[in-house]
Amino acid sequence: MDIKTVGVVGCGLMGAGIAEVCARSGYDTVVREVTDEVLEKGMERLRRSIGTAVERGKLSSEERDAALGRLRGSTRLEELADRDLVIEAVVESLDTKRELFRTLDAVCPPHTILASNTSSIPIIEMASATQRPDRVLGMHFMNPVPVMRLIEFVQAITTSEETLATARAFGESLGKRVIVAKDRAGFIVNMLLVPYLLEAIRMYENGVASREDIDIGMVLGTNHPMGPLTLLDYVGLDTTYYIANILFEEFRQSQYAPPPLLKQMVTAGFHGRKSGRGFYDYAGGEQPPKV
Ligand code: CAA
Repeated sequence: MDIKTVGVVGCGLMGAGIAEVCARSGYDTVVREVTDEVLEKGMERLRRSIGTAVERGKLSSEERDAALGRLRGSTRLEELADRDLVIEAVVESLDTKRELFRTLDAVCPPHTILASNTSSIPIIEMASATQRPDRVLGMHFMNPVPVMRLIEFVQAITTSEETLATARAFGESLGKRVIVAKDRAGFIVNMLLVPYLLEAIRMYENGVASREDIDIGMVLGTNHPMGPLTLLDYVGLDTTYYIANILFEEFRQSQYAPPPLLKQMVTAGFHGRKSGRGFYDYAGGEQPPKV
């Protein structure tokens, strides 16, 4: 089966990025948000991002206009009824996702593949809420979606090989490299990334080094594009805390246990760049160290 039409549920940071790359890659794309206000905010984010791509010479203004012409926003899930593929990128709440998959299963025709961009919730939880568990899989995009070249696919025990093959062809048509993981908490990337990020927090919490030196150490010492504390602010401390808790619950190993400082910062509302403050106080004019 060929994918021709795509639906994206959620137009937050990830949903907007996913909708952008789909439309840029030639797919007729509908993106759905809960209210007109939230939808407009997401579409504005998308337009800004696609504008940056033009400024950086990644896209001509004609290509931008054609991409925007392939894109439509809606607040109605029913508008996804003619989609070949629907990618869910809503909040990381199991109840919300299960309810959404149940509704999508009722709204979409039998051939539609349903994918989740979850970074942590087992895909079988969503697949089992539908009558098509063979056509449900994980499609975990990386942030920022238009720039990062990876998609991590997650094959639940029910996902068919045919679904995986169709999804792989689609993922590669977005210009991304596809990797496949089994349906286990953390998949590949977060299983490796999250313990590393948590260790950086412990190091800072224990006074081993300044936040700047921890970041500079990994940027200049290992050529990472960002140091771990800067990356935590970028990904979101709330998101990392959420994923760490899921990993700890699943494996009960100390490397996944969220350090007290992370919990305190999340409770205080220091969620990183998006809240104006994380390890660095962006609202107060601070920036991560320049290297
Ligand atoms: N569309 C297309 N290309 C774009 C673009 C857009 N909207 N915006 C920027 N670009 C391009 C730029 O032109 C540039 O390309 P060249 O290298 O060819 O010039 C490239 O993207 C980098 O852009 P910038 O120069 O603006 O930014 P930068 O060099 O400061 O890099 C960054 C920014 C890409 C975020 C980089 O710091 C980075 O890679 N950081 C690490 C990000 C990361 O690890 N993400 C994964 C997080 S984990 C995750 O997402 C999973 C999870 O579940 C938590």
